[in-house]
Amino acid sequence: MQMIERPRRLRSTPGLRKMVRETRVDASSLIYPMFVTDGSGRIEEIKALPGQNRYTVDMTDGRIESLLKAGVSSIMLFGIPEHKDELGTQAYAEDGIIQRAVSHIKEHYPEMYVITDVCLCEYTSHGHCGMLHECCGHYDVDNDSTLELLQKVAVSQVKAGSDMVAPSDMMDGRVKAIREALDAEGFSNTPLMSYAVKYASSFYGPFREAAGSAPAFGDRKSYQMDYHNRREGIKEALLDVAEGADIIMVKPAMPYLDMIREVRDTVNVPVAAYSVSGEYAMVKAAAANGWIDEDSIICEMAVGAFRAGAQMYETYFAEELAGFIKEGRIG
Ligand code: PBG
Repeated sequence: MQMIERPRRLRSTPGLRKMVRETRVDASSLIYPMFVTDGSGRIEEIKALPGQNRYTVDMTDGRIESLLKAGVSSIMLFGIPEHKDELGTQAYAEDGIIQRAVSHIKEHYPEMYVITDVCLCEYTSHGHCGMLHECCGHYDVDNDSTLELLQKVAVSQVKAGSDMVAPSDMMDGRVKAIREALDAEGFSNTPLMSYAVKYASSFYGPFREAAGSAPAFGDRKSYQMDYHNRREGIKEALLDVAEGADIIMVKPAMPYLDMIREVRDTVNVPVAAYSVSGEYAMVKAAAANGWIDEDSIICEMAVGAFRAGAQMYETYFAEELAGFIKEGRIG
């Protein structure tokens, strides 16, 4: 067979370039993370996340409408209660912040798909993701007693109207526990997205400012993953699929593209990537200094995650991205 000496370049014209594109991006894959807080009449700016706010329930409408108009029809809600306590009771209170926010949004905007974060760190006074117990002279997070609370949190969120629950606490066995609790309450059709591949990351810094959830002591290294480990990430993903997770999330996104690809090649459920607060903050800071072109960077980061294998992409830039997709800048 004769060798082709000079292969044709398939990117010489825009139409052809687009025809042979390997990665397609659609606004229906985007999830926007949104913070809701107790009280009324307030939209509080989050300093470390310029352009992002904490909304009281009555002030969410404007943002929900602009998201829907842009083409973003999924959000993930994070609740930040006024009163935190040791047991994180506001996380499963019937009139808790997240429960009220979900029912408000679903009542007024049923077309918005609402995912709720299942975790305790935004609700506990100590900022850890679970119950504490004293062990060998220091406090530690108690995995098993936390599971019961997570079950309560998930059930109360779905009762309030949540379309999907997303446990992010990283306790062992929580997917199975939450699945069983939802099924027992008659919510067997509610999907569960597990933050299975969640690394102990400094990229969550701005989120913790936003949620006031920085641990009061210690860190989350005992329950979030060591970022040196790749095979452990796969193990976590496989365990969660076996426990009944419908979607596996990898988080953060940009420094973990290898994990997105590896998980995508390993599991047979959809894979989501969460481009976290630190990724957003870095882009915003560099752009504010005129060091990078913000819009192009947003596009490149998103396409990078999709190219790596993500089918869903959670990002604080969701609304901007939907705009770029509409303009044909990416997609
Ligand atoms: C835990 C949770 C965190 C994030 C999402 N869910 C914080 C943490 O684990 O410390 C971080 C998201 C982000 O940084 O954007 N409830």
